[in-house]
Amino acid sequence: MAFKDLKINGRRLQSTLEEMARIGATPGGGVQRLTLSAEDQEARGLFVNWLKALKLEVTIDEMGNIFGSRPGKLNGLPPVMSGSHLDSQPKGGKFDGILGVMGTLEVLRTLDENNIATQRPITIVDWTSEEGFRFAPAMLGSGVWTGALDRDWVYNRTDIRGRRFENELNRIGYKGAAPCKKWPVRCYYEYHIEQGPILEKEAKIIGAPKGIVGLYWYDIYLKGEANQAGPTPMEGRHDALSAAAEMILKVNELPNRMGGNLVATVGEIQNHPNSRNIIPDNVHFTVDIRSWDDEHAINAWDLVRKDFENIAARRGCPIKIEETWRVEHSPFDETRVQLIMDCAENLGYSCLHMVSGAGHDASYMNQACPTAMIFVPSIGGRSHVEVENTRWEDCEAGANVLLHAMLRSANEE
Ligand code: GLV
Ligand code: MN
Ligand code: MN
Repeated sequence: MAFKDLKINGRRLQSTLEEMARIGATPGGGVQRLTLSAEDQEARGLFVNWLKALKLEVTIDEMGNIFGSRPGKLNGLPPVMSGSHLDSQPKGGKFDGILGVMGTLEVLRTLDENNIATQRPITIVDWTSEEGFRFAPAMLGSGVWTGALDRDWVYNRTDIRGRRFENELNRIGYKGAAPCKKWPVRCYYEYHIEQGPILEKEAKIIGAPKGIVGLYWYDIYLKGEANQAGPTPMEGRHDALSAAAEMILKVNELPNRMGGNLVATVGEIQNHPNSRNIIPDNVHFTVDIRSWDDEHAINAWDLVRKDFENIAARRGCPIKIEETWRVEHSPFDETRVQLIMDCAENLGYSCLHMVSGAGHDASYMNQACPTAMIFVPSIGGRSHVEVENTRWEDCEAGANVLLHAMLRSANEE
């Protein structure tokens, strides 16, 4: 068979995705596989077994990133790398991240059953802790691998119950021996669901993002004065939760005030002591600001930060602000993006050049080697929720584009 007619096996990809989705399955049809949890451990075990069945050389590094290497004819040449992540959001979907890892696995199975040897080796990867829910920030495995984040800083990050990242990595048995440090890679591909409404709206099957927006994360801590909710007069209260409420609305109004391309979200809050009849004395909440224009995102933050300080002063609630994370917008390699669009066109799939509003390991990988992504539509534009869904034929289409992009790249001199 000519290379151009080669296709992945859509049914096998579906059954692989379904098998993986059983680990941490939630009643609402999604999955909950939080980073370094028992479910993450089980998913990793299944993944490693699948890699071994393909006789790949499996390497686990000191961040728990899992790599599977398939030799090429010229093993001295840097490999083509492709993958994503197996961890999920709380009550998340069964496609986010998982599709990119299982899609790459399906590409490797297709190459094997067709006895195809490529010039360059190919590496499949599952990056540790992409979601940033249990241990903030996000993209920790790829962040350390590319040198953007410090390994020991990540090891000392704690979850909401105070458990350290490194201890949890050890507990699930995935602190590997290999150093977590970048090595030469020809190019990196990440196949992912869009997680937004654009492909569906434009009736396109494949998205070829030109890059990923800048991501800005902040943690806000407010102090108030706890007291009895009944006898304490309204005047003179220091209510940390009411201060937070005012601030949260300022974040929500920010894109309107700023104009241009910007989104801003408060998604997480902890209120203490969280009793209906005590005035709250400690609140923590998060801020997530994203834009393709980094300066615009930073200006937005400067504006809302001043609002926060004014509200805190007026309400007598001392504020502590942590600038937790910033990843500048990441324009992908134009040649690789063009290759994705060419592969889609050759396969007869409609394709849209777009922007990724979601963060991905590709954002960090783009700092290390030429990088591009492949998107497929999310039904109803829903993601990070149990009802996250993508049509099986679209999953198959995206994996075919990945197959051809990887084949072309792995045969480059
Ligand atoms: C990654 O999941 C993100 O927050 O975009
Ligand atoms: Mn993802
Ligand atoms: Mn996600």
